[in-house]
Amino acid sequence: MTPQISRRGFIAGVFGGLVAVGVGVPIVMSVVDGSPTSTGNLLVSRLPRPRAFTRRLTIPPVLRPTRSDADADYYEVHQQISQAEIISGFKTELWTYGGSFPGPTVESSRGRRVVIDYVNDLPLPTVVHLHGGRTPVESDGYPIDYVYPVDRTYYDQQLNDHAHMSSGQSMPGMSMVGDTRDGRRTYTYPLDQRAATLWYHDHRMDFTGASVWRGLAGFHLHRDDEEQALGLPSGSRELPLMIVDRSFDANGALLYPSIDPTLVHTPGVTGDYIAGVLGDVMLVNGTPWPFAEVAGASYRLRFLNASNARRLSLRLDPPPPGGIIEIGTDGGLLEVPIKHDHLVLAPAQRFDVIVDFAGYAPGTVVTLRNDLDSGRMGEVMQFAVGDTAHDSFTLPEQLSTIERLRAEDAVVTRSFQFRAGQVGDMNGWLIGGRPFSPDDISATAALGSVEVWELFADSYHPVHIHLNPFQILQRGANGPGQFDAGWKDTIDLNPGEQARIAIKFDGYPGKYVFHCHNLEHEDMAMMANFETR
Ligand code: C2O
Ligand code: CU
Ligand code: CU
Repeated sequence: MTPQISRRGFIAGVFGGLVAVGVGVPIVMSVVDGSPTSTGNLLVSRLPRPRAFTRRLTIPPVLRPTRSDADADYYEVHQQISQAEIISGFKTELWTYGGSFPGPTVESSRGRRVVIDYVNDLPLPTVVHLHGGRTPVESDGYPIDYVYPVDRTYYDQQLNDHAHMSSGQSMPGMSMVGDTRDGRRTYTYPLDQRAATLWYHDHRMDFTGASVWRGLAGFHLHRDDEEQALGLPSGSRELPLMIVDRSFDANGALLYPSIDPTLVHTPGVTGDYIAGVLGDVMLVNGTPWPFAEVAGASYRLRFLNASNARRLSLRLDPPPPGGIIEIGTDGGLLEVPIKHDHLVLAPAQRFDVIVDFAGYAPGTVVTLRNDLDSGRMGEVMQFAVGDTAHDSFTLPEQLSTIERLRAEDAVVTRSFQFRAGQVGDMNGWLIGGRPFSPDDISATAALGSVEVWELFADSYHPVHIHLNPFQILQRGANGPGQFDAGWKDTIDLNPGEQARIAIKFDGYPGKYVFHCHNLEHEDMAMMANFETR
């Protein structure tokens, strides 16, 4: 089996460029006022970084179905290499869904299934995961449930060059679940779940960080009647905003410190970056530091931090008189809106907010800042406020209802420690002292039951659980934090913190993963399985 061979490489210590990192002392290089704000190390671009606020924000295209029937919409997406002009005057090669980065936005509504045929025109296997989706296991994108390339030449050649490793790898389909055809795979999403900002991205075992960095990520906006009834700003007043950091080589290519540039044999990144890769160019929907012209009106902004390792603290400058009104998060609408002056987003987290730009005088230029870094990375994008549109929108006081999960309802309490540790003789990242193995089940949960999980983190670990969202009960001795309301699928764990979350398992039986969404940690073994029955 591919993963085990790959993992064996890991354990054998083929991490060439690794420098010693004291276990439990990760490198933390994004620092504001002397305190660390992300776990990771800055990768410095080799070209002059582009000027900010000179290019327009673009909105990813919406994916069109190839056909529809009574209860489903069918799509086809080619995963392909594309060139983009991310930095003016330079071509950057990307790995894309359908030719764009971010990939095309999938729009769905509750009650209709989405069926997507992913065709792999890339040189290496891929895995597609719908993050936040309540998805049967065959379509969840388990890290070894590959979509093999249409053209396997490069991949097979890599395997043959390492004949001693190739025995298992030449057996496609082994231990894979679901559609195992070469070249394409059909993913079926029932989407029997609340409206929410979901996103899809690559999830190939050991190499997710490199694949997402190259561009394999897109929005999936799921809607329902409850949300529709609120009359939220829509059309040009609804902006999905995918924020990522990236770094570029002198010729415009993306830089990424993979140990193994073939992305076949040895997982992970070189020693300096074992804590995470932080880019030094901020992209919003694929454009560096863009600007957007907005009317003086209420907008729905759907923020997604799709960075590999960088945390963000977003603030509008000058601040909107009405505040930043959070209406939803990872798992959809909150019960009631929450007014913030800033938002902290760990990798993979989403915040759905309303900002009323009518509160600004026409002509105001508003900068979206990131207070978790200084200098260029302290800025994200700009909004140029136009004339006031007199179509004011009033947010309802009640948005939704949320079934409150209580610790008393839990049938079991489990504890998981997220820490740096040895993987074989190398440094990596562990859950409960163990590196990821597809065969190792860390929890078996009964569908229909509630569990409490205690999660302890040695440094920043954005912990994500597949299949079901959860509620944050406690952080240390305190209650949930100011950004913890509603249903989450990713928790921003702070260094030295122990949090308690409640999960109600429901939906589908099978083997799913939970993992750190710092993608370098994930690739370096910070992932585990749970099984639902
Ligand atoms: Cu967005 Cu398992 O990940
Ligand atoms: Cu997920
Ligand atoms: Cu982590």
